[in-house]
Amino acid sequence: MNLRILSTSPLVGKHLASLGEAFPEISIAPYRSVAWTLGLQHAEALIVLLSEPITADDINRAPRLKVIGTYSVGTNHLPLELCKTRGIRVVNTAGVLTDATADLALALLLAVTRRIAEGEALVRSGNWKGWAPDQVLGIGLAGKTCGILGSGPIGRAFARRVWALGMKPVFWDREGKHHPVDFGAGIARRLPLDELLAASSVLSLHCPLTEDTRGLLDRGHLALLPSGAIIINTARGGILDESAMIDMLRARVLGGVGLDVYEGEPKFNADWLAVPNAVLLPHLGSATVETRNAMAKMLCDGVAAALREPPC
Ligand code: DGY
Repeated sequence: MNLRILSTSPLVGKHLASLGEAFPEISIAPYRSVAWTLGLQHAEALIVLLSEPITADDINRAPRLKVIGTYSVGTNHLPLELCKTRGIRVVNTAGVLTDATADLALALLLAVTRRIAEGEALVRSGNWKGWAPDQVLGIGLAGKTCGILGSGPIGRAFARRVWALGMKPVFWDREGKHHPVDFGAGIARRLPLDELLAASSVLSLHCPLTEDTRGLLDRGHLALLPSGAIIINTARGGILDESAMIDMLRARVLGGVGLDVYEGEPKFNADWLAVPNAVLLPHLGSATVETRNAMAKMLCDGVAAALREPPC
């Protein structure tokens, strides 16, 4: 068999089809289908989605594998160390989904603080009786501190957005607390984690899920947030303790939560459906036509380049 590229999806747009013109030995088979599993032994390139973990066992069944391309910026579903040892390249889509993801984090923040879904439901219910002084009151953002975990491109893009709302961004990351962050609209302080949490009326996550960040924000850390704080997560589930967040929302210690990602998604803790002031989205961070096209192009170009490289 001459299979060179095994993809679990046609992706968005025409980029995978164009890759297939350059490398006709391409096959699309659903993740973990029999065809996909059998294809591993011949494939030189795998193309997967962020919801499709690749295990060491998969890699061991793929002796010809040169490159894994993931249709995401996140690589937490790939065995990175093993890929390094085996000399398998990993291609992701860093850079092209920065604005889309930061936009979605902002949309979640405004949806939570301005109770957008509740307002819309009131109009659609037919029960709206007209403007009232205390109707669907939200929470203002101007002048408040926004703690941002992760000072990479998405964290900085989110900082520009909240700065435009009049908020004060501050950052935490593993780079160290002494160097301020230039976020393109100003300079923000880097704070030690405990200090950042204690100062943040809004906390937004923009760091990858790694061994260092898994379980980073446990119940004790979350308790440092000011009363009424808002948490936004468009990064990955597993960084925050979701049960603690649910308890804190029920006790009205947190003011609201906006989630685009969940530990173990697409399964998620059913308690989320019953807690007050949680806005829940189905992992839409990069979901714009432009962005998904740009991601497909970057991924297909990266896979093609890796396949064209001479063997070392
Ligand atoms: C990614 O690509 O890793 C993001 O989670 C998209 O939202």
